[in-house]
Amino acid sequence: MSGDGRAESANALLGEIAGVGADRARGGYSRHVFTTAEGELREWFGGAARARGLEVQVDRNANVWAWFGRPGPDAVVTGSHLDSVPGGGAYDGPLGVVSALAAFDLLRAQGFTPRRPLAIVVFAEEEGGRFGVPCLGSRLLTGTLAAERALGLRDGNGDTLADVARAAGHQPAHFGRDEETLGRIGTFVELHVEQGRGLVHLDAPIAVGSGIIPHGRWRFSFTGQGNHAGTTLMEDRRDPMIPAAEMVGAVRRSAAAVPEARATVGRLVPTPGGTNVIASRVDVWLDARLPEPGDVRELVAEITEDARAAAELEGCRVEVREESYEGAASFDAALRDRLRALLGDAPVLPTGAGHDAAVLARFVPTAMLYVRNPSGISHAPEEFADPADIDQGSADLARVLRSLAG
Ligand code: GLV
Ligand code: MN
Ligand code: MN
Repeated sequence: MSGDGRAESANALLGEIAGVGADRARGGYSRHVFTTAEGELREWFGGAARARGLEVQVDRNANVWAWFGRPGPDAVVTGSHLDSVPGGGAYDGPLGVVSALAAFDLLRAQGFTPRRPLAIVVFAEEEGGRFGVPCLGSRLLTGTLAAERALGLRDGNGDTLADVARAAGHQPAHFGRDEETLGRIGTFVELHVEQGRGLVHLDAPIAVGSGIIPHGRWRFSFTGQGNHAGTTLMEDRRDPMIPAAEMVGAVRRSAAAVPEARATVGRLVPTPGGTNVIASRVDVWLDARLPEPGDVRELVAEITEDARAAAELEGCRVEVREESYEGAASFDAALRDRLRALLGDAPVLPTGAGHDAAVLARFVPTAMLYVRNPSGISHAPEEFADPADIDQGSADLARVLRSLAG
């Protein structure tokens, strides 16, 4: 409920942040962790939470918490993230946050008094849009990612996470597994826009998540000899762009041959990156995902072999580094069935999209709710959810929170 006691819908709350982080060059939103835009969203969330009488805290890893009543153990926690991919949509992340605020408004309007502590969390850097590794906030909180490694990660400008976190007012020396905060989470429920067309096919507005398929990110660094585009004859070149381009084709071929596999090259950076310059180095990032019993690392090994062969043919070298990996996540079966029953036999869906919920699921009973996305498009400006489905999502989330915390 806002300061004047008015309940706000999730749609209205989304409208309040519609202008923040709009990316005029790429379209959509670029709201990377510890940038001005993301800071503005943190401020907005803190203000919206305080206007509702919630107690706002920032934990050791820069995740933001808003407590409905007194913070404490065995809490029912909901929330998502406010950062985005480059040029992303308006819903991936923010929908879970605004729906949580709207659900709290509904509970207040119903005069609900929770028996368990109730909180909203906004996790930091879910997308890995700035530092490459996704779910930094939840991985650091749970100790799944070592603080030393995280703090040394560099963004595209060469700045470390430690430096930009400090500049944004956080204390990187305190980053790392946070027993106290983790110990407070009794149950976690994340609401998210669906990132495929599962609900369209089922003709339903809301689903309960079953789990997340294994996925990871690998960086292939090809090195050759930088040189002049006009004076270097073709036979004299060692151009790392050639094996990098070969690799893009190999990714498509290898993944297309494995049922259910998804593999993507969405980022390729030549150094130094001049039109009239043969690159000295090309970095290629591979995002690969494959449900079990498939083995996503086996698929990556096959791609690596092709990349090495292509590099050798051009007199180049390639170095491969696994930047992140998340194994299969299965959400708590009893919790899933409870939510499903509560929401009128809502359908159950698996997903190929990663979430902080996958990280949390290894530590506490965790569930996800998905809101229908008519086009299924996500990580792009065309991402969408119908306002009526959004309202349904926050009402369903309120029902879930009421049942879990009541
Ligand atoms: C996050 O949305 C991911 O699946 O990469
Ligand atoms: Mn995303
Ligand atoms: Mn997300």
